[in-house]
Amino acid sequence: MPKLAKRMGRAKPSAIMVIADKAKRLKAEGRDVVNFSIGVPNFLPGEHVYDAVRAALSKDSGQYGSNRGREDLLDAFLKHLEAGGFRGYERKHCAVAVGAKHILYNLAEALLDEGDEIVFATPYWTSYLDIAEILGAKITLLPCPPEQNYKMTPAQLDQALASKPKVFLFNNPSNPTGMVYAREEIAALAEVVARHPDTWVITDDIYNRMVFDGVGYHNFLHVRPELRDRVIVVDSLSKTYGMPGWRVGFMAGPEAVAQALVTLNSNHITNVPEVVTAAAVAALTGPQDIPARKCAEFAARRDEVLAALAAIPGVKCPRPQGAFYVFPDISCAFGKSHGGRKIANDVDLCAALLDAKGVACVPGSAFGEPRALRISYTCPQAQLTEGLKRIREFFAELA
Ligand SMILES: Cc1ncc(COP(=O)(O)O)c(C=O)c1O
Repeated sequence: MPKLAKRMGRAKPSAIMVIADKAKRLKAEGRDVVNFSIGVPNFLPGEHVYDAVRAALSKDSGQYGSNRGREDLLDAFLKHLEAGGFRGYERKHCAVAVGAKHILYNLAEALLDEGDEIVFATPYWTSYLDIAEILGAKITLLPCPPEQNYKMTPAQLDQALASKPKVFLFNNPSNPTGMVYAREEIAALAEVVARHPDTWVITDDIYNRMVFDGVGYHNFLHVRPELRDRVIVVDSLSKTYGMPGWRVGFMAGPEAVAQALVTLNSNHITNVPEVVTAAAVAALTGPQDIPARKCAEFAARRDEVLAALAAIPGVKCPRPQGAFYVFPDISCAFGKSHGGRKIANDVDLCAALLDAKGVACVPGSAFGEPRALRISYTCPQAQLTEGLKRIREFFAELA
């Protein structure tokens, strides 16, 4: 058989999907599984989205569409940007793709030649690493351990940008940690970014409507609008509107970058389908009460998870203020055993937790932090409470 391309030797299936698939398999076999693994919002969009889809179906053109995104979708995204405090953008600064993941992949392809340097924090969303590896980029990780609340410091960023990396990729609120940078923290980082003009900055802000405790959502551009010629904002319908499977993501940035993504779209997907476009326009322009309600609900769930973890001796957890993840440091369990099964690391712990208690969490090493595990807390409330109880039992049974 002929060989696959070399880059496929660097491509890995998503570590999150591996756990999620095992949880699904166990469930299908009749096991009582609580799934804290996959990062889905677990709610559906409002009826107005489905009405828009039905209306679109009844007048479907069946034709190819715009490579950039249909004009009414771009306009809806521009309004959404404005509501988020981003002014002065036009259609030519935007592009649509099949989810934020696709936007990020396209941006990496558009901005990075093989061997070019990309900088991002650890813990990171798994696909950052995977995409950069597939494209053969030089990856520089900024360690942001629990001791510094999983946040990068201006000094760390300053040092990393000194080598003039091609891209700095920033995620706020964060998956997997749920951390949110306060306005003054963003201002301090933006000040560093401003001093290093040779680096593109991608801000992956797809959880921007899920921020708790009144911290607010802040972007480098809110404090330094003059950075607009090299900051690229990424957003998505997936988490905000409960539409991960609809696959719609957006970017806003310099015209040349948006145009590059349009060119890539013209060679990959051609267009986001008409019916999906109608759903996206309805989500962005319709009532915004569901995202607001869900945000309040997730804040209460965050509190429940933190309370449960605080009751486990040795487990430490910086307080997340956004998204829907908690990322506790569970390294106190390493070197112990459960039911005779040795727990040497996070992967052992997650495997034992799933086998013994039917609770699926993602090992922190999937995000570059092997002392932690990720709990995604959007499952039905009864399952959340039950899963947390089982986690407490599991830790109490360690010997
Ligand atoms: C930080 C982050 N960026 C991007 C994505 C991709 O989102 P989408 O569903 O829009 O592709 C995710 C999905 O989990 C994410 O957590």
